[in-house]
Amino acid sequence: MTHSDFPTFPEDQVLLGRDLFFDPLLSGNRNISCASCHHGVLGSADAVPLSVGEGGKGLGKRRHGTGTAPAHQHVPRNAPAIFNLGASAFTTLFHDGRVAQNADAPFGIQMPEGNALEREANSLLAAQALLPILSPEEMAGTEGENDIADAVSAGHIRGPNGAWAKLAARVEAVPAYRARFTALNRSEAPLHISDIGNAIGAFLSDEFRAINSPFDAYLRGDTTALTSAQQRGMALFYGKATCSSCHAGAFQTDHSFHAIGIPQIGPGKGHGSAGADHGRSAITGIAKDKYCFRTPSLRNVALTAPYGHSGAYASLHAVVRHHLAPHESLMSFDPSKAPVPALTGYGTVTPHMPDTEELERIAAAITLDIPPLTEAEVNDIISFLHALTDPSSIGGKLGAPASVPSGLKVDSLLD
Ligand code: HEC
Ligand code: HEC
Repeated sequence: MTHSDFPTFPEDQVLLGRDLFFDPLLSGNRNISCASCHHGVLGSADAVPLSVGEGGKGLGKRRHGTGTAPAHQHVPRNAPAIFNLGASAFTTLFHDGRVAQNADAPFGIQMPEGNALEREANSLLAAQALLPILSPEEMAGTEGENDIADAVSAGHIRGPNGAWAKLAARVEAVPAYRARFTALNRSEAPLHISDIGNAIGAFLSDEFRAINSPFDAYLRGDTTALTSAQQRGMALFYGKATCSSCHAGAFQTDHSFHAIGIPQIGPGKGHGSAGADHGRSAITGIAKDKYCFRTPSLRNVALTAPYGHSGAYASLHAVVRHHLAPHESLMSFDPSKAPVPALTGYGTVTPHMPDTEELERIAAAITLDIPPLTEAEVNDIISFLHALTDPSSIGGKLGAPASVPSGLKVDSLLD
C-alpha cells in the first residue's frame, strides 16, 4: 500500500478543504465544524461513545451545552475515524454503508433518499461531506433557529432554495473563500455545494493517511519491525483466530457488513423498538442484513477508542474480548461502563439500552464464531493491533489551522 493507492488533488483545494472542515460556518447555528467530531488530535474522531453535536462545547470530553433545543441530543452512533478513506479500496461509507459507489445512481454515488447529488463529486468522501451539514443533531440545528435548519425540516435540500444552496451562498459571501475558489476553479461562477464537498473530500484524503506502520515495514521485508508478541498476534489474526475472514486485505476490512452483537446504547436510529438500530437492513430492506454493521478498518485502531458502531467499548481489550463471547458480552453489558457525556440540557442520563426482547433479537443475529483463545493469545492479538499504528499519521498531516476565513472560533481541546 502506497500513496499511489490514493487520488491526488491540487494543493489549493486541499487547503481550502482544511479551512472548511474546521469552519463552524457550515453549521446552521455557526457553532460546530466537522473537526468538532473528527479531530486529528483525537485520532480523527471525538473520543466519546456517541457524538455530541450541535449545541455542544469543546473537543475531547466534548460536552453538551445548556440549551434544550430538540437537536441537542446524542448522535445515535459513534463517530468513526476517517483514516485512509480516500483510498480507492473504500467504496462504501458509514456504519450502514448508506453512501456507496453505484453505477446506477446519479453521478455514480448512492446517497440517502432525497439527497441525490446535484453535480459530480470528486470522491466518495466529497459526497459524504454533503450530509452531516443537513443533520439537525450534527450540524444544522433545530427548526426555528436558523435558515438551514428551517430548510432541512421543510425537506428542502436540493435546488435553488434548498439547504445546500443556502450553505454555498454563506461560503460565497466570505471574500477569502470566494477569491480562493475563483483561483482554484479559474471561474467566478457562483459556488455550488459540490465545490465545498470536493474541497473537503480532497483534504480528508490527504490529511488522514495511515499507511506507514510497523506492520507495513514488516510486509516490505523488515523482519525486525514487529516484536515477537506482535508476530504471534499477527499469526493468530490471520490464522487460528479467523479475524482476517472479515478484517481482510490491506486495510483489515472486507468492506462488508456483519452482525457481531456490539451492545446497542443511546437513542438508536428509531428502527422499531425504543433505542434500536437495525444497521445495514435499514438501507437494503433485506432481513438478513438486520443488526449488521460495516467491518471497520483496523488501521490506527489503537488511537480511536471507544469502539463499535455505538462506541460501547472503551478499550481494545474489551472489544476484542466481545468478539470471543459476543452473546454473553451483549446480554451482560453494563451501559454505565460506556462514558457517554451527560445531556446537561435534559439532566444527566445513563446511556440506555433497548429492552430485553430487542437485545435477544440482536444476539440471535450474531454470526461470529471464533475459537476459544487464551488470555495470552488475546494479548498477543492486541499487541499486533498496536503494530497497525502509523506514528507519522498522528494528529493528521497538516493539523488544525490557527483561524478560519469566516472569523468564527476554531474549537480547542478541553482538559
Ligand atoms: C456531531 C458529530 C459529527 C460531526 C459534526 C460530523 N461528523 Fe462525520 N460522522 C459522525 C458520526 C456519528 C458518523 C457515523 C454515522 C453513521 O455511520 O451512521 C460520521 C461519519 C463520517 C464519515 C464516514 C466514515 C466511515 O468510516 O464511513 C465521514 C467521512 C465523515 N463523518 C466526515 C465528516 C465531515 C466531512 C463532516 C463535516 C461536513 C462531519 N463528518 C461532521 C459524527 C460527526
Ligand atoms: C464475522 C466478521 C468478523 C470477525 C471474524 C472479526 N470481526 Fe472485528 N469487527 C467486525 C465488525 C462487523 C465490527 C464492527 C461492529 C459494529 O460496529 O457494530 C468489528 C469491530 C472490531 C473492532 C473495533 C474497531 C472499531 O473501530 O470500532 C476491533 C478492534 C476488531 N473488530 C478486532 C477483531 C479481531 C482482533 C478479530 C479476531 C479475533 C475480529 N475482529 C474478528 C467483524 C468481524
